[in-house]
Amino acid sequence: MLDNFERYPLTFGPSPIEPLPRLSRHLGGRVELFAKREDCNSGLAFGGNKLRKLEYIVPDVLASGADTLVTIGGVQSNHTRQVAAVAAKLGLKCRLVQESWVPFPDAVYDRVGNILLSRVMGAEVELVDEGFDIGIRESWERALADVEARGGKPYAIPAGASVHPLGGLGFVGFAEEVRAQESALGFTFDYVVVCTVTGSTHAGMVVGFARDERSRRVIGIDASCTPEQTRAQVLDIARNTAELVKLGREITADDVVLLEDYAYPVYGVPSDETNAAIRLCASLEGMITDPVYEGKSMQGLIDLVRRDYFPAGSRVLYAHLGGVPAINGYSYLYRDG
Ligand SMILES: Cc1ncc(COP(=O)(O)O)c(C=O)c1O
Repeated sequence: MLDNFERYPLTFGPSPIEPLPRLSRHLGGRVELFAKREDCNSGLAFGGNKLRKLEYIVPDVLASGADTLVTIGGVQSNHTRQVAAVAAKLGLKCRLVQESWVPFPDAVYDRVGNILLSRVMGAEVELVDEGFDIGIRESWERALADVEARGGKPYAIPAGASVHPLGGLGFVGFAEEVRAQESALGFTFDYVVVCTVTGSTHAGMVVGFARDERSRRVIGIDASCTPEQTRAQVLDIARNTAELVKLGREITADDVVLLEDYAYPVYGVPSDETNAAIRLCASLEGMITDPVYEGKSMQGLIDLVRRDYFPAGSRVLYAHLGGVPAINGYSYLYRDG
């Protein structure tokens, strides 16, 4: 499906799939859980899902002759950290707009974790006092204009690299990679569980898994807490991506399964249940998830298993998309473990 698209390698290769036997057993042993480890997919600043997306965007960056990558996210954005790493690797400048998407009062929130790493990698970081929104932002447009005004040539990457025309391709590749790994494993996964916010991770999977009619087996766990906007954005990106890769069939609203029950109380703030899921997964498997994204999809995974959402005997693949550096911004919550 991706043969016609140029890819600039930023990852180690196929990300590993590992079984989660102790978590599976703890939850009753009726379903078998596995994780695909996008969180350790690259040596670039701890890796994560954006690198897979950026592999298909970098050729366009290089063709454009741009000298500065300009992108946007929250203060503890994983996306901006990964763009900063790519800029460093390519020898480009990087301008990051970090909005106040999360009402979290930890005293060092804007000094540790992702934002610390971005600064160390040489990105120019601008803190902006605007709330959460996955759409196109004025602050980002201002930053693009500012780079130009200073004589630079900016390349615009939207939040999460999602509404970029090529943003969905990386996770079409994820589905193809899973299919190849399934052949080697000798079985197929019945469900994929994925955390969804700006949408192109989920959207790419919907298109990639449409090839073997598994789009609806991709269970998106909303972490945006603005699920209508996220659902619409996933559908939009999936439709555009399907056209781009010549899928040969329409993507419909039914193809996008997005569960809304785990994003509370608000984007970026973990509930007690999210924290319990983070601790359970960490203590049983040594696999760390974060309070903004993967902790919420882990909470969803655990709850769905407990509620028998997956028929007995199912094999469920949890897409671990990265994000662990952000946990440093929440140190007070975990001061006793
Ligand atoms: C760790 C992590 N998980 C999940 C997501 C959600 O992915 P997407 O924005 O493509 O929906 C993101 C980024 O937003 C992320 O950084």
